[in-house]
Amino acid sequence: MRLLTAVLALLVITVTPAHAGPRIVGGVVVDSAGEAPWVVALTTSSGAQFCGGALLGPGQVVTAAHCVHGREPGSITVVGGRLDLRTGDGSTSVATSYRLVDGYSTPSRGKDVALLALAEPMPYRSLPVAGPNAYMSGTVGVVYGWGRQAEGDADKSPQLHKAQVPIWADGQCAATYARYDAEAMFCAGYPDGGIDACVDDSGGPFVVDGRLVGLVSWGVGCARPNAPGVYTRVATYLSGVQPEMGSAVVP
Ligand code: ARG
Repeated sequence: MRLLTAVLALLVITVTPAHAGPRIVGGVVVDSAGEAPWVVALTTSSGAQFCGGALLGPGQVVTAAHCVHGREPGSITVVGGRLDLRTGDGSTSVATSYRLVDGYSTPSRGKDVALLALAEPMPYRSLPVAGPNAYMSGTVGVVYGWGRQAEGDADKSPQLHKAQVPIWADGQCAATYARYDAEAMFCAGYPDGGIDACVDDSGGPFVVDGRLVGLVSWGVGCARPNAPGVYTRVATYLSGVQPEMGSAVVP
């Protein structure tokens, strides 16, 4: 029991945003807004970015539960249409409410997804959600975020970055992480590391063929060898969500 508690404590520590970890590690700058119109940044009222997300509809954003859990909806400002957060491009809207999956506790226990309703709809294309067959091992997805670019980096990136990583077989993820849950998660990365999401990328979309497959959820450090990033398996929670709908319930 003590060991279990220690393992859980360790996992919790690795997902604490205050801990060092890179913004997308080993990625490239996204320089065309048309490439990822649905990607959004979650910021505080004073504009400090803390997570990513994606538009599922004009007034609806999907992100990781751990990004919003414990925050007042009105203290979350969503920024859309802005690749470089130092600019005033695009538009912003505060959240009016959010929904979590029943029983959400910490990312390593799964259910790490939240739907935010926005006060003002955003005029950008939304991202459809993938079906349950999108998780074949070897499938390469693109992950987006404004997070750190190396584990231990103090600074965040004001520019949106992206990186490509392949999905691993569930057995490989489970062999790597004791808390791996194939219904709630998938993992992606390279055996040698080098390319990964990192701290402050959480909630950002993992996209395959123009569909939302995952959300940055947790990891151990960033881009370490044999430590793939773990993502929320959104098809488990969001199947049936109509991207056009302004509000939907997480089952
Ligand atoms: N929990 C982190 C966040 O809040 C994301 C960590 C992802 N780590 C990784 N190695 N893929 O931003």
